[in-house]
Amino acid sequence: TNDSVVFSGIQPTGVPHIGNYFGALRQWKRMQDAAPAGAKLFFCIVDWHAITMPQDAHILRQKKAEMFAALMAIGLDPKRSTIFYQSEVRAHTELMWILSCTASMGYLNRMTQWKSKMHLDDDAKGLDHDVAQRLKLGLFSYPVLQAADILVHRATHVPVGEDQKQHLEFSRECVSNFNHTYNTKCLVFPQTITTSSPRIMSLRHPNRKMSKSSPVESSRIDITNRHREIQSRIMGAATDSMNRVTWDPENRPGVANLLSILAQCGYSGSAAGGGGASEAEIAAGFGPNDTLKDLKMMTADALRLELEGVPDRYHEVLTSKGGKYIQELQDHGADRAHASAKETMRMVRDAVGL
Ligand code: ADP
Ligand code: NA
Repeated sequence: TNDSVVFSGIQPTGVPHIGNYFGALRQWKRMQDAAPAGAKLFFCIVDWHAITMPQDAHILRQKKAEMFAALMAIGLDPKRSTIFYQSEVRAHTELMWILSCTASMGYLNRMTQWKSKMHLDDDAKGLDHDVAQRLKLGLFSYPVLQAADILVHRATHVPVGEDQKQHLEFSRECVSNFNHTYNTKCLVFPQTITTSSPRIMSLRHPNRKMSKSSPVESSRIDITNRHREIQSRIMGAATDSMNRVTWDPENRPGVANLLSILAQCGYSGSAAGGGGASEAEIAAGFGPNDTLKDLKMMTADALRLELEGVPDRYHEVLTSKGGKYIQELQDHGADRAHASAKETMRMVRDAVGL
């Protein structure tokens, strides 16, 4: 609606792959394009979250710029959306501190993300002495910063993947704790928007998700890959020895992954109506003489169309005006985000007595 505020964040992991794109970023672009005049959208590159794990300074700086340029390249528009680095807007950490004074340790202790980074089971009871010694405070309190990110912009709608639902629930908990403690209504309850998009799997090991953390570059498609690169990676994708196209995700994960990518690209095959066909419908459109090579060629073509113009725009953003252009965009985003956060912080300080 007119006064809705959308907030979403992504880690500065460098150039996004098509899993990031279909799973998150394309949704941002669609929300932006569908937003009515007056709606506000904030897309934040969360570099403070990134440093909960060790980073190399030089590489982090580079990955931040790559992510920023990628968001521009997929069509986020700095006139309509506020795109910014978290660490440029100090109010995020200021609110984090204030929220952490009313947030419960017990609740954080039950959250699963820090446990998975510590290689504990999700249902591990939590902080015994040994775990507490190894656990960094920032990783433990990460959800409080995430809550501050959202609440400082008074976000009403937060698109998240399944894995982040728990954190959104914690943000809502932070709102009730704060508003109750200070007898105010100044923080706004955010609403979750969950989007169901399939996991895109590794092109090499279709039982694992496509991920930046794999050292094998050809296991993924980056959104800045050009057609020849896309083609060679798709042609090299691991499939199986049955040279026909069927939809059988259980037994044929490699083939299913290609069909998923085709479906995400809006490929409709021979189905009438165009666009939006399911994987099964797409598979059914292939005849008994069509081979996996045909499927791969179609997948590479569909990706080329989906990502048309992205590599060029990406390089243009990074190199325009000798690097000054991206700097201007970053400053512009930071200014807008700062103005938005400032309003909330005035109300928060007023409520607390600061
Ligand atoms: P990575 O595993 O490459 O480091 P992240 O964990 O940083 O990716 O995820 C960033 C966003 O992209 C999240 O919203 C996540 O759900 C989405 N995402 C990441 N990998 C995939 C994938 N293989 N398929 C679908 N969505 C994905
Ligand atoms: Na990850």
